[in-house]
Amino acid sequence: MSLQSTLTAIFQDAFAAEGVDRSFGEVVISQRPELADYQCNGALAAAKSAGRNPRDIADAVVARVESDPSAGLIADLEIAGPGFVNITVTDDALAASVEHMGESDRLGVTPAESPLNVVVDYGGPNMSKALHVGHLRAAVIGESLKRLTRFLGHNTIGDIHMGDWGMPIGQLIIELEDRQPDLPYFDEGFSGPYPEESPVDLDDLSDMYPVITQRCADDPEVAERAREATFDLQNGRAGYLALWQHFRDVSVAGQRDDFDALGVEFDVWYGESTVHDRLAPMVERLLESGVAKESEGAVIVEVAAEDDAKEVPPLLLTRSDGSYLYSTTDLATIEMRVDEMDTDVMLYVVDARQSLHFEQVFRAARKAGIAAEDVDLEHIGFGTVNGPDGKPFKTRAGGVLRLGDLIEIVSDAARSKIDAAHIADDYPEDERARIARQVGIAALKFGDLSNHRSSNYIFDIDRFASFEGKTGPYLQYSAVRIASILRRAAEANLSAGPVVAPTVDAERNLMLRMVRLPEILERSMALRAPNVVAEYAFDLANDFSRFYEKCHILSEEDPVRQASWLSLVATTRSALELLLHLLGIEIPDRM
Ligand code: ARG
Repeated sequence: MSLQSTLTAIFQDAFAAEGVDRSFGEVVISQRPELADYQCNGALAAAKSAGRNPRDIADAVVARVESDPSAGLIADLEIAGPGFVNITVTDDALAASVEHMGESDRLGVTPAESPLNVVVDYGGPNMSKALHVGHLRAAVIGESLKRLTRFLGHNTIGDIHMGDWGMPIGQLIIELEDRQPDLPYFDEGFSGPYPEESPVDLDDLSDMYPVITQRCADDPEVAERAREATFDLQNGRAGYLALWQHFRDVSVAGQRDDFDALGVEFDVWYGESTVHDRLAPMVERLLESGVAKESEGAVIVEVAAEDDAKEVPPLLLTRSDGSYLYSTTDLATIEMRVDEMDTDVMLYVVDARQSLHFEQVFRAARKAGIAAEDVDLEHIGFGTVNGPDGKPFKTRAGGVLRLGDLIEIVSDAARSKIDAAHIADDYPEDERARIARQVGIAALKFGDLSNHRSSNYIFDIDRFASFEGKTGPYLQYSAVRIASILRRAAEANLSAGPVVAPTVDAERNLMLRMVRLPEILERSMALRAPNVVAEYAFDLANDFSRFYEKCHILSEEDPVRQASWLSLVATTRSALELLLHLLGIEIPDRM
């Protein structure tokens, strides 16, 4: 148990013994670190329902805690203001807690008692498109949430949910038909087999994409053909399906390279098409049950609620030509996840601008009984990556920046910083290049994850790639430095030993920070907010740096203290490793 949860248990018992609800006994981190380590504010909250003066409750609770034999870890209790209880723990308790973390391979974090089946739906690129800067946040935030839920003990599946079944495919099919009409895919009389080789690669498709989108916008006839092609594909036209398979294969291959480079890994590459067999029966069933209805030839589900502040339009299940949409596949995907994967929680890490879409889909899923109330459906929205002008990030030429190019840019920036700081000066060239890439990706990811996901941020590679300040490279550098301290200690035949009570402020502060790790992860998860982890990792690295400045480990004369410090160093390294892993950031072996 963490120090904070042990304290909470003690205070909860005291509240219960006072006849007040246990839940008021929650202990939190002190708002005033100069006064205390932790605090309990329950007396104030409890006063009303208990019909007592908060100060009386606080007095009574403190008296009970003081006489509780299990409260030996508390050094001091003080009632402040109208009834806050300030708690200072003993130095021994702190040392024991750090030691316990160091001994555990999970740093004292207990895995969830009842693990949930979680799907993190993230990345979400549309097929046939090279990844661009707009895909960055979904990938980076989603990856982090996936790692976090998994570390906390849940059965988590990361699903890319590719956009591979909608109108864009129909559009690409007719664009290709116009460019290469003789291909057998367009010949309805063709009896196969179709060529094994794709007629296009991802670059071709990416070039065709904007062209055909524009053509459809300009010419209703072209748009109509695209709609028909989409309908035919969705209804199993063989040549189109064969083409679709090519499009999908080349897309997956190209996109996988970018995701690999980013350190983003999906467990399943499902997509909208995965549920295509479910679409017709689902729509039919919803029509029969009256949940859906026809409206001007289309099928819709009304999802508006009386108390809506803004209008929530109906969810469209089929267009009047019978073709299915983004919303249809999303609804059927919920059905599949519930039926086949027994999913308890679905986290959709998708641009905040899609919030209305998810509101509609989730409401329809409830209304249709596809997701019972105990299935948790959450849209984890995020803001945009902006350029220095505060507008969505573009290339100098005003185009959309490809993710592959972005990765080059950050690696180059990292390389200049590394050169300027004379880091890794004498390493072989291939190692320097690898470090530059790892540092560049860390700069990119931490630059993103250190912001709350719902805010927009300005992409500032110069700041992100710096080795100073709240950056990914700074954290990597701290972790590498700590490893080198441990290496030097090992070379000097020094070994870690039991953690003893701290005597120096900087040492105590580091310990106090460290023992908060379990609650930090819980909080980050509860808020679906990786920036909580990012912030904490930075604080921990800073506290370590202050400790290292004050405590001269390698030259310390007292062997007991020295061994204790080495344990503290090793545990800090493990904690940083875990935290950076949860953020999806790699640590170079040396730098
Ligand atoms: N493909 C979609 C897009 O490009 C994102 C998919 C997000 N996930 C989902 N289940 N809708 O906007």
